[in-house]
Amino acid sequence: MRIERNLGMDLVRATEAAALRSGRWMGRGDKNRADQAAVDAMRYALDSVPMNGVVVIGEGEKDEAPMLYIGERLGSGEGPEVDVAVDPVEGTTLLAEGMPGAIAIVAIAERGSFYNWQGIAYMDKLAVGERARGVIDINAPVAYNVRAVARTLGKQLEDVTVVVLDRPRHKELIREIRETGARIKLILHGDVSAGIMTAIENPPADILMGIGGAPEAVITAAALKCLGGEIQCKVWPRNDEERARAAELGIDLNKVYTTNDLVRGENVYVAATGITPGEFLRGTEYFGGGARTHSVVMRSRSGTVRYIDATHRWDKLMRISNMPYG
Ligand code: FBP
Repeated sequence: MRIERNLGMDLVRATEAAALRSGRWMGRGDKNRADQAAVDAMRYALDSVPMNGVVVIGEGEKDEAPMLYIGERLGSGEGPEVDVAVDPVEGTTLLAEGMPGAIAIVAIAERGSFYNWQGIAYMDKLAVGERARGVIDINAPVAYNVRAVARTLGKQLEDVTVVVLDRPRHKELIREIRETGARIKLILHGDVSAGIMTAIENPPADILMGIGGAPEAVITAAALKCLGGEIQCKVWPRNDEERARAAELGIDLNKVYTTNDLVRGENVYVAATGITPGEFLRGTEYFGGGARTHSVVMRSRSGTVRYIDATHRWDKLMRISNMPYG
């Protein structure tokens, strides 16, 4: 069965629920309980979506995570067969430490769409928004990509902003970007938001560069497919053990994974809600008796991007849901 109905609107209820429940853990220093709150809420909400979903990108393998594990079935069981990619809290440290940029995000696409990262946890990434699509090359030097993006955006090199995860492994990358004269936005966590940021209106960054999570690369690709941007990635083993594992699995470390390799389907839906305040989504704000959320819903086929401001009232929600919101 093809995906006909806009499931994005159903998905956003799940990211809202995750944000509402986990936002209460902001700054309380407990990553696990913050994540668990989001996982529980998201799972509960996704189970009522009219789809036949299988988690391809989730919270780890079956034995490691109690919920939303890879292979778990989600949805009401009626409706289209879809792959599900979830990150109930993208930026768990940001949330636990009360820092900006944590979001709840979920993506779905036709069954068989999402790249299976097979346990090699990191990828080298290069991502841009629609206006710079087609001019980047992850195999080319950093300066080539920065110059190509500057040229196509009609910007001076000094006005190009590259966003990079602040990690020791990026020392050389940061040096090379600085040599071009481009600006750098260093982030502590959250390269999904960073990748998406290159492709939204009035983007606060032009390019995402550097090594981050492989599951996050797939979710970023889903969003960029909706927004018209582009991501290129290469599998990045951390050590000899992972290199050997990659060889065993027949993974070619020189292969460039494009947006379409990471997300093959043409019918992709993504929903995300801000948990802590961020640059493209506001954080969840609580008031007496309820809360406000800020979300985005996108669909690749229509290209529609909707921002949703929602007000939630605990007394009413608790009458129609089993979630302990109030
Ligand atoms: P979590 O929410 O799972 O903690 O991931 C946050 C994150 O910063 C991702 O956005 C990024 O892809 C990855 O971790 C980077 O990994 P590491 O912190 O090991 O460098």
